[in-house]
Amino acid sequence: MSRSIWNSVAPKTNFPTLKESLVVDVAIVGGGITGITSAYLQAKSGKKVAVLEAGEVSGGTSGYSTGNLYSMIDKRLHHIQSKWDKETAGAVARSRTAAVNLVEELVKEHNIDCDFKRVPWYLFSESNKKDETIEKEIAAAKDYMLQVEEVDYLPLPMPVSKAIKVENQAQFNPSAFVRGLAQKVDSTNCRIFENSPVYHIEKEEELTLSTPQGTVTAKKVILATHSPKGIYAVQTAIYPYREYAMAAKLKSGDFPDGIFWDTEADFHTSMRTYRSNGENYVLMLGGHHKVGQEDDYSRFYDKLEKNIRKYFDVSSIDYKWSAQHYKPADGLPYIGESIDENIYFATGFSTDGLTYGVLSAMIFNDLFNNRENEWAELYKAKRFKPVKSAKEYIKGSLNVAKQYLKNISGTADDEAYSEIPAGEGKVIDHGTEKWAVYRDQSGVVHCRSALCTHLQCVVDWNDAEKSWDCPCHGSRFEPTGEVIEGPAFSPLAPKDPASRNKE
Ligand code: FES
Repeated sequence: MSRSIWNSVAPKTNFPTLKESLVVDVAIVGGGITGITSAYLQAKSGKKVAVLEAGEVSGGTSGYSTGNLYSMIDKRLHHIQSKWDKETAGAVARSRTAAVNLVEELVKEHNIDCDFKRVPWYLFSESNKKDETIEKEIAAAKDYMLQVEEVDYLPLPMPVSKAIKVENQAQFNPSAFVRGLAQKVDSTNCRIFENSPVYHIEKEEELTLSTPQGTVTAKKVILATHSPKGIYAVQTAIYPYREYAMAAKLKSGDFPDGIFWDTEADFHTSMRTYRSNGENYVLMLGGHHKVGQEDDYSRFYDKLEKNIRKYFDVSSIDYKWSAQHYKPADGLPYIGESIDENIYFATGFSTDGLTYGVLSAMIFNDLFNNRENEWAELYKAKRFKPVKSAKEYIKGSLNVAKQYLKNISGTADDEAYSEIPAGEGKVIDHGTEKWAVYRDQSGVVHCRSALCTHLQCVVDWNDAEKSWDCPCHGSRFEPTGEVIEGPAFSPLAPKDPASRNKE
């Protein structure tokens, strides 16, 4: 089962479950870096705030990230230059730099113990096949006065042909930061609730959010949930992916400080080090794939482990985890007010979410306080640029259409039930329906409809994470059907296992 190093070593939080009816200025759904930084800034500006987290603070994507903060982007600055223009790429770099600086200020101001440190960021090629990518990125970074240089040698165990080094980027333990900040902000003016999943938002003059045991009425709502909860057009312009990470304790040797991105590798696309309890860990990340569209998910962990052992003297693999991200059609995240008045969201961060999460909080803070924000227009959530999004949009739409074809059921296959091993799940045809069937470790079979409660795509069993994953917009569900993440509000509909014997 996956376990991230960040959530394991960061102090736990113990915020209450919402069991009352509250009235606030700003309700925030999601207690990750976007939600908690937003709560901090909104409360500081005098707003009354409530944060509703479905599980535990930093228990979602923030706690399953790499803990890297940087001005550069996964999509590459030079790509943004060519897709948009130089000014846009410059604004991206500047806005992200401002977000990294804010994290540093908050860490210092509140003395948050999260191992924050400034480190260089590197992007390297292993062979001259990808040298051109490095050269283009060096040129792009130089345009924005980032402290950048070309490097021919890196102290890494894999070959390095050419590299770009950008100074003054940062690393931290994201869960220690988010939980530390949450402790600072929690007060009578800013309440934080855990284990309080929002299952409905009533949109009247004010907005009322319902959780199983309480309600929050607010003037404005921030959906800090990655893909926004509910149905929004933006979900056709962001595409869900998963990626895998592993933290290996080193027997010997060390790994240099820094953020290392490889242009060529599938299974060490990103590497960094972390020191915990006097032990040196190396973190390796890779194995990118579309959500809910694989036959075998465990193979990603297997390949990652093989790769980490190939390059390092590993004592033990102590932590492994995977996380979801959403790639935007036009290369930029969507941050701002949705089509529903007073409901705001921040999504499409690609793999650059920690920095974009903080940036989103900064933008919301200015918007809610009627201040100009120089980046609000660039990232605004209601934009849709057909030309800039066209290629990715068509690809994404075709992919979703393909997933809907899976809704057509075949013949019933009763034998398939008995073939499901303990701890595993399978989608099984049941007459005209598709069922998500899970056999728990004690042998009890749990049957749910396999239709995602967001927009009815058929979910897929993820054997690595033990979850039902929706290939259309990335909703994920527990083996027994409860929502883990994504735009779906409701659990998978229950089905009666006994009914299959009555037909
Ligand atoms: S997440 Fe949209 S249909 Fe499942």
